[in-house]
Amino acid sequence: MSPRQAIQHNLLAQWQLPIPNLLAELASKSQVSADFFSAQLLLNDARQTIKSLVAQNWQADAIFLDPFSPPKCPQLWTVEFINLLSKCLAPRGRLATYSSSAAVRTALLSAGLNIGSIIGAGRKSPGTIASFEYKKLPKLSMMEQEHLQTKAAIPYRDGAGAYPADRTLQDRAEQIIVRRQQEQQKSPQESTSQWRKRWLGSKM
Ligand SMILES: C[S@@+](CC[C@H](N)C(=O)[O-])C[C@H]1O[C@@H](n2cnc3c(N)ncnc32)[C@H](O)[C@@H]1O
Repeated sequence: MSPRQAIQHNLLAQWQLPIPNLLAELASKSQVSADFFSAQLLLNDARQTIKSLVAQNWQADAIFLDPFSPPKCPQLWTVEFINLLSKCLAPRGRLATYSSSAAVRTALLSAGLNIGSIIGAGRKSPGTIASFEYKKLPKLSMMEQEHLQTKAAIPYRDGAGAYPADRTLQDRAEQIIVRRQQEQQKSPQESTSQWRKRWLGSKM
């Protein structure tokens, strides 16, 4: 939700002062600086704004990756975007997301991150936590590990070039989805329905 909409819907009122004032200033001026809190709000397509953070060598201790689901918003779950995002994560920093999608997990692994499984807040399915160097990540179950060997683990890619520099992060959602479907059709990997049947059998 955009910060201004959050204010219009009175969502800041639940926080103690001075948090609502700081967030309101952030929404109106796009930056705020106080003794104990400073923030900058970057709007526009995250695939482009992330490039300026990478250029500044900006490093976060925590990243919460919260786009709409991969089928709805594949642009922010691609190998290319997650690779740039990972460059903004400090070595012991952690990236968390509600998604347990095998395609998303493959993209995190391909950025060189280690991954773990976490309980998704308010959700039945687990989420994912990732870090380069933080050692205490909760392990993936065997079922989750095997999910990464199936066609579902084929990741989303943004741009068709053979080299990373050719992948411009400008594709439309449909292009990214079709590219992945084509790759899945060609892939000899186990189908995700076979994997599910092996693990869940008659419970399906
Ligand atoms: C699931 S919402 C979560 C927003 C926020 N974390 C919250 O809790 O209110 C996903 C958001 O991603 C935004 N979004 C979709 N594609 C984007 C893109 N390419 N760049 C930046 N934001 C994008 C949508 O407009 C939407 O506000």
